[in-house]
Amino acid sequence: MEMKMEEILLSSWFKLHPSVPSSHIQPPESRPGELLVAASSKTIPVIDLGRCDDPPPHDTLSLIMKASQEYGFFQVINHGVSEELMEDTLNILKEFYDMPPKEKIAESSKSPNGICKLYTSAEVYRKDAPQYWKDTLRHPCLPSGEYMEFWPQKPERYREIVGKYTEEVRKLGMKILKLVGEGLGLTADYFCGELSGSPVILAHHYPPCPQPNLTLGIPKHKDPSLVTILLQPQGIHALQILKDGQWLAVDPSPNALVVNVGLLLQIISNKRLIGAEHRVVTNANTARTSVAYFINPKDKCVIQPEISLITSTTPPLYKPISFSDFRTNFLIKGSSIEADLLYHP
Ligand code: OGA
Ligand code: NI
Repeated sequence: MEMKMEEILLSSWFKLHPSVPSSHIQPPESRPGELLVAASSKTIPVIDLGRCDDPPPHDTLSLIMKASQEYGFFQVINHGVSEELMEDTLNILKEFYDMPPKEKIAESSKSPNGICKLYTSAEVYRKDAPQYWKDTLRHPCLPSGEYMEFWPQKPERYREIVGKYTEEVRKLGMKILKLVGEGLGLTADYFCGELSGSPVILAHHYPPCPQPNLTLGIPKHKDPSLVTILLQPQGIHALQILKDGQWLAVDPSPNALVVNVGLLLQIISNKRLIGAEHRVVTNANTARTSVAYFINPKDKCVIQPEISLITSTTPPLYKPISFSDFRTNFLIKGSSIEADLLYHP
């Protein structure tokens, strides 16, 4: 029987269930379990981008490289994206998710081939697998403005606000990628062309969950991006990263954005930088909306270890793959694509 998106969207039905339905219960080994977070000192680095004149090793470049090597994750403050715009962006997405199901679906189904879409659980719907506690709106946000005519037109200011936000967050992303290029000993504009030419936005919505210990918002994964920049609300601990066998909760710093190394940057850097595994847990009290900006390559880009980083002692770890094949495989297999790309698994 064909299920209607209107009915399966989590935001349409979660209020009707006093407990997590069996469709959304994760197997015991993937449940959140006891949070193994150590002292608060063991959290991801917070990097102040407003202090560019500090000498090494406390300059921005060194701090970003260190965090990307040790954690694959960091938060940035004084990053240039205005606080008001961050608030407006979270608010407009909350408004989007508050619209009636039919309207949400209509507003996110304007593109002919599903490049803009709203889905529940995961991008590929697997009826028989355990589902995740979230809905996601996904669409491209190209610097050229291409495809913007397919973005939601409601809430009324959606295109204006999300357009402005993605423009500003792109500037931040390029600044970080320039530093990373430099830090790897490549040219500063190494990542600035087609490798970062196809950004997308994923606006997630995690409704309150009656039994957070039974389910997950997003399972353990690495991002299929070069770099991801995440906007998340204050006061909710939902994002966790796996570091040395422990899950660390990311404590949202005031006005910060979270930056993480994606699997593509891990491959191109031949693992000098690491894409950290992370997941999202749910909470019983508050709906959470987060906005992930994925810096992605154009489809035709070939992703492989950069040749100038290859030496006799650091041979290439990964086989080349086009980004379009990478994405197709990632949708089917998830992060396990990493093992398939290794020359010597
Ligand atoms: C993602 C992701 C984290 C969050 O979109 O890949 O990890 O907090 N999101 O929503
Ligand atoms: Ni992620």
